[in-house]
Amino acid sequence: MQTRLSVNVNKIATLRNARGGNLPNLKQVVLDCERFGAEGITVHPRPDGRHIRYSDVYDLKKIVTTEFNIEGYPSKEFIELVLDVKPTQVTLVPDPPEALTSNDGWDTLKYADFLKEIIHQFKNSGIRTSIFVNPDAKMVEHARSTDTDRIELYTESYATNYTTDRDAAIAPFISAAKKAEELNIGLNAGHDLSLVNLHFFNQQIPNLLEVSIGHALICDALYYGLEKTISLYLNQLKK
Ligand code: PXP
Repeated sequence: MQTRLSVNVNKIATLRNARGGNLPNLKQVVLDCERFGAEGITVHPRPDGRHIRYSDVYDLKKIVTTEFNIEGYPSKEFIELVLDVKPTQVTLVPDPPEALTSNDGWDTLKYADFLKEIIHQFKNSGIRTSIFVNPDAKMVEHARSTDTDRIELYTESYATNYTTDRDAAIAPFISAAKKAEELNIGLNAGHDLSLVNLHFFNQQIPNLLEVSIGHALICDALYYGLEKTISLYLNQLKK
């Protein structure tokens, strides 16, 4: 089965917010991403609303016809939002409110009970759960005790090290992915994936179900256009 591409549209909202109007039109971009072949839409609302706002999440829920994935730190407000909107998937990240972007995975040992309680609430509402973890087999092992459906491997280190030694860069991800498979945990991945490094990652991780990609994809769209860019990313994901 081909790995699904979920397009993270946070950057579209960032651009819109820079001028205060409705250009680019986030809803139209989302519809177009799906029309061009995206198999999911990801949003990451942050408490200060500097890119995706809570109101955007409600608007997008009405129009997304593929898989809707909401990422974020599980604050009280975030949990209420997700339970209300009922996306296909929620991805829990441990980033503090002021973080520029997600910058670490969960310590799944320390936060196992905290995560388990929240994950049960989401699963009871029919929402698939995923938690953001570093490529560390121990962290994957402890993720099992949270009862999460999936984990999302944090790929920043892979992307950074890819150009110097791609085999070394992928090694911890292969171990983490094998552990996830052994424990029957579904596998997603994201952060800094791009046309440069995506194909190799996907080839090396056979149980990869989904990638969520924002920054590089939107940057590529400046040169290739959105339609061509999405097709280029989909091509990288062919097994
Ligand atoms: N996964 C998570 C948990 C994220 O926070 C982000 C960035 O918002 C991504 C994936 C996508 O990362 P990028 O924008 O670098 O593709």
